[in-house]
Amino acid sequence: AKDGYKHFMLKEIMEQPKVLRDCLVGRLQDDRVCLPELDGLPVPGSIRIIACGTSYNAGLWSQYYLEQFAEIPVIVEIASEFRYRKPILKADELIVVISQSGETADTLGALRLCKEKGYPVVGICNVLGSSVAREASACLYTQAGPEISVASTKAMLSQMVLLLLLALYYGQRKNADCSHAKKLRAGILNELKALPEILEGALPVMRDKAKKFAYQYAYAKSFFYLGRGTAYSLALEGALKLKELSYIHAEGYATGEIKHGPIALIDPDFPTFALAFDDDNFNKVCSGILEIKSRQGNVIALLQEGTELENNDLWYIPQTKLPEFLALPAMQLFSYEMADYLGKDVDQPRNLAKSVTVE
Ligand code: F6R
Repeated sequence: AKDGYKHFMLKEIMEQPKVLRDCLVGRLQDDRVCLPELDGLPVPGSIRIIACGTSYNAGLWSQYYLEQFAEIPVIVEIASEFRYRKPILKADELIVVISQSGETADTLGALRLCKEKGYPVVGICNVLGSSVAREASACLYTQAGPEISVASTKAMLSQMVLLLLLALYYGQRKNADCSHAKKLRAGILNELKALPEILEGALPVMRDKAKKFAYQYAYAKSFFYLGRGTAYSLALEGALKLKELSYIHAEGYATGEIKHGPIALIDPDFPTFALAFDDDNFNKVCSGILEIKSRQGNVIALLQEGTELENNDLWYIPQTKLPEFLALPAMQLFSYEMADYLGKDVDQPRNLAKSVTVE
């Protein structure tokens, strides 16, 4: 049931505070992360994350946190590319496959290939008893609940929670006694624990803002999505959501890359959705935005409260050290409102299926 919402997608976006809470149930003990599913596996020397689509974007996002907190090198791969190369895996590598449905053919193919080579594979899945969940050496279930709308929304958020927990978990196992690392982990855990309430408070305002910007920018034939650091993978995801739902051409780019070619596209009819989080990248991201504006590009800039930028269309989200968990729903709502306004079939976009069981 849609619980009174017009579409499943909207319902699933609005459920995300609950998803955040559910994902943490049983996973925290004081300042420690519990992933008992992995206790029997050794701490890997490196991690290779393999997935498709939105799940790939979640994997790419986690690279920053795994490297920061677990200090483990990470490679993130598209499943359909990985499985048809002759990949060279390191001896102490851990494979992590991410799949909401657990039935995506390419992801499952990659899992089988790695298992045949004798590697442990951890699955991050939402559907209980799915093929990935059954065949993986260990499975971390995301607690997103059934996702009906074809476009992945709350599933990605739940994957991000699990991946962040994974980074903290390996950090714990590697740096158990380092008080500085312990403090950093406790700090980010506190941010994570505070998120459900922050998101709950922010969602109604976000929806209004999303609607306003969707109407204002519905003229666009193309959109850039830009982000740097942890916002980069979110920019890819924002672009994916806009194209799959509203059929508006959208490209996600690393902010630092636009001057290497893409900025040639900018003109008054080619708008940009820029993510400018309050982190070490903020000033660089702002100068990227100014470059676009000086070429007459229109920009929606998503900022955190307490920061400033000279721009007409500002979208403020609350202050937190994990702004990704707020920016993601904001972009989901923007795509949702755009698709609905343009009269598209939100829950069943053309040419798409919920799980892609063919190669
Ligand atoms: C986009 C979307 C897809 C899936 C992809 C992988 O909104 O839903 O890109 O993320 O098909 O699906 P799973 O995670 O089920 O393997």
